Amino acid sequence: SDLARIHSIAELAELARRRLPAFAWEYLAGGAEDELTLTRNRQAFAALGLQARTLVPCHPPSTRCALLGQSLPLPMAIGPTGYNGLLYRDADIHLAQAATARGLPYCLSTVSNAALEEIVSQVPGVDLWFQLYAMRDLGIQNDLLERAGRAGCSTLLLTSDAMVLGNREWDRRNYVRPRQLSLANKLDVLCHPRWLRQVMWPRGLPRLGNLDPYLPESERSALGSMKFIGEQMDSLLDWDSLARLRDRWPGKLLLKGVLHADDAEQAIALGLDGIVISNHGGRQLDGAVSSLEALAALAPKVRGRLALLLDGGIRRGSDILKARALGADAVLLGRATLYGVAVAGSDGAGRALDLLAEELRRSLNLMGCPALDRLGPDCLHLKPLAEA
Ligand code: FNR
Repeated sequence: SDLARIHSIAELAELARRRLPAFAWEYLAGGAEDELTLTRNRQAFAALGLQARTLVPCHPPSTRCALLGQSLPLPMAIGPTGYNGLLYRDADIHLAQAATARGLPYCLSTVSNAALEEIVSQVPGVDLWFQLYAMRDLGIQNDLLERAGRAGCSTLLLTSDAMVLGNREWDRRNYVRPRQLSLANKLDVLCHPRWLRQVMWPRGLPRLGNLDPYLPESERSALGSMKFIGEQMDSLLDWDSLARLRDRWPGKLLLKGVLHADDAEQAIALGLDGIVISNHGGRQLDGAVSSLEALAALAPKVRGRLALLLDGGIRRGSDILKARALGADAVLLGRATLYGVAVAGSDGAGRALDLLAEELRRSLNLMGCPALDRLGPDCLHLKPLAEA
């Protein structure tokens, strides 16, 4: 098929850019303000050198790993992203299918288009995780948690780096009123009839499935659910609320959006099962340190006391290898699989996962590393080029 002729995440990204209208592409690919952090996430991987060992036959290398009491075929999962339905119809379901077919977890966002219950009924065997945005109305939050439990979610991620929305200037440029596309963008949408038919026809933009039950019947629309979530996101979230969440949620609990070693220590003190070292893919605080740099600084202090996941800028198998060598247990994928789903639904997302898996295996081989747990700081050349 056509997908077999795509050889990298970068090529998938280029196809996604051509398929999507500009406003949807910017939503997918953009970062906050000057995109310093977006760029820095990638630069950190590029700056890290690999010290390969030679004459170590290890074909095929093992990519199996332990994560949160589970055994995974690869050290990765699809991370939570909101409003995927803007990229492809039922994208949440397609992403869950691609992950499940490869034995990998799928994390559904609070602001997904498909509801928890839909994922479970449409994707048999899914290893479903749920990402929570704390809600002002605790009744709603508790109901969401109960639904996540009933849906069989093993793992809950509380996102802590989006208490206020990052400064995404493209978003403000693309809309004249809240959620009303500018004329230029409406014209651009008309130039993408394939997307228009696939995503918008015949019901318009999709609603936020998890939140629909909490909206009055008359306000159940794409616009209504956006307004609702804007009002509901709890900007007063603190460590006490996390402690209460720990008491309420019986499954695995991870804090997403940690960059500082002291915050990792607090997470351990509260009995959390892990953290996701993340700057929200450069979409929140611009200027934030890259997630890879944050991992390098905090892993030596906390490693072994809770699970360390990382996201931000994973575009090659060797990026996953570098994160593992610095102490991460696994990575979450954001844009890499979104590019895939935007191009070709579950096949496209699956292609993204397969490319990363192939690249990871090849890189391990070339490193002379027979298994993931042999990766450590001795595999890396830590000094920046300028000092070498
Ligand atoms: C996100 N991210 C995100 N995170 C979260 O906790 N809840 C959410 O709803 C979303 N929504 C979202 C939408 C889009 C379009 C993107 C690109 C990202 C952040 C996401 O979970 C992850 O931290 C980053 O995407 C990781 O960076 P990369 O892999 O995209 O570079």
